[in-house]
Amino acid sequence: MRIGVVPGSFDPVTLGHLDIIERGSRIVDRLIVGVLENSSKQPMFTVEQRIMLLKKATENLPNVEVLPFSGLLVDFLKEQHATEVIRGLRAVTDFEYELQLAQANRSLYPEMETIFLTTNVSYSYISSTIVKDVLKHNGDVGHFVPASTLEMIYQFRR
Ligand code: PNS
Repeated sequence: MRIGVVPGSFDPVTLGHLDIIERGSRIVDRLIVGVLENSSKQPMFTVEQRIMLLKKATENLPNVEVLPFSGLLVDFLKEQHATEVIRGLRAVTDFEYELQLAQANRSLYPEMETIFLTTNVSYSYISSTIVKDVLKHNGDVGHFVPASTLEMIYQFRR
């Protein structure tokens, strides 16, 4: 069985993330969305809230599971018997960081591979950072996040 992981902070999940998760779920037999717990970034949403949003957004994808992880991604892969990491590339500006991450991970765990999926062009400008900024200024994030999670996001912000 081919097990893949889409790792990230998902603070919060965006339409771009969901696109990568949906397409990733067709590449592997089981796809785990790994939500980083101990990020150095101060998150807007707790890990429990981020997981709730992701579970709701992916409830129609039977081979997708959402789990928290802390520490090294490669240790999470080993724990889950996963060998594939799937990441989205929005633009060339993402590439340098993603290449570094992929190479560092592979030197720590040579049995793994990173698969890059190019983001759907209609979502290429969307990021969690933009969503948080719009939310902070009480703007409408309806074009940026999954419709199924929109209400929950506003509830969490109250
Ligand atoms: O959505 P993000 O914040 O860009 O995701 C970054 C993530 C979670 C994939 C990355 O920070 C990560 O894997 N962190 C776990 C610690 C780790 O394994 N670091 C890389 C080893 S060099």
